Amino acid sequence: MTTLFVNACMRGEDSRTLALCREYLQDKEEVVEVDLATLGLKPFDAQMVAYRTEKQKAKAWDDPIFDLSHQFAEADEVVIGAPYWDLSFPAALKVYMEHVSVCDIAFHYTEDARCEGICKADRLTYIASCGGFVEGANFGYEYFCGIAKMFGIPETRFVAAEGLDIVGIDVEAQMDKARAQIAALD
Ligand SMILES: Cc1cc2nc3c(=O)[nH]c(=O)nc-3n(C[C@H](O)[C@H](O)[C@H](O)COP(=O)(O)O)c2cc1C
Repeated sequence: MTTLFVNACMRGEDSRTLALCREYLQDKEEVVEVDLATLGLKPFDAQMVAYRTEKQKAKAWDDPIFDLSHQFAEADEVVIGAPYWDLSFPAALKVYMEHVSVCDIAFHYTEDARCEGICKADRLTYIASCGGFVEGANFGYEYFCGIAKMFGIPETRFVAAEGLDIVGIDVEAQMDKARAQIAALD
């Protein structure tokens, strides 16, 4: 069982989100981590799109441009760790998804032109922490619910420590609430 940990905790060791992710991951058998703060991925531009399209047409699936997509598609579980930034998540995570979202690796089209997910994972767990409260604006998680549907991952779930930047709030109590939610996950 391979768990792919997509670490979008851009503040590294100071990140409260990362602390929560580690609690969740501590009992997992085999964890493979992609650290987006150090990876320095480039967003796709015209040249990269053209290059990738050429490789897709040639079915050159061992080209390194597909490595992150293969890794995502082959994981048994995906864990996304991302602080709540600007109502969603850090831009590095969207750039990563540009690299992952490849037709004929993460999804494909059926003969009757339906998009069908072909990733192996049976669930995606999204872990966040937030300065305020997410309330009705959980756009980062909602995006990943859409991605999971498109990629054929049947289950998604969300845990967050909220209100961490509110003056006077008991930060440890908020973290403990999230830790309890994590402990309750199977
Ligand atoms: C660039 C940036 C954008 C943020 N945007 C929001 C936001 O839209 N809403 C919110 O409640 N908190 C926001 N915050 C606060 C973070 O969500 C909060 O500090 C979180 O706990 C950071 O996680 P970390 O400790 O894992 O880095 C933002 C923080 C940063 C640095």
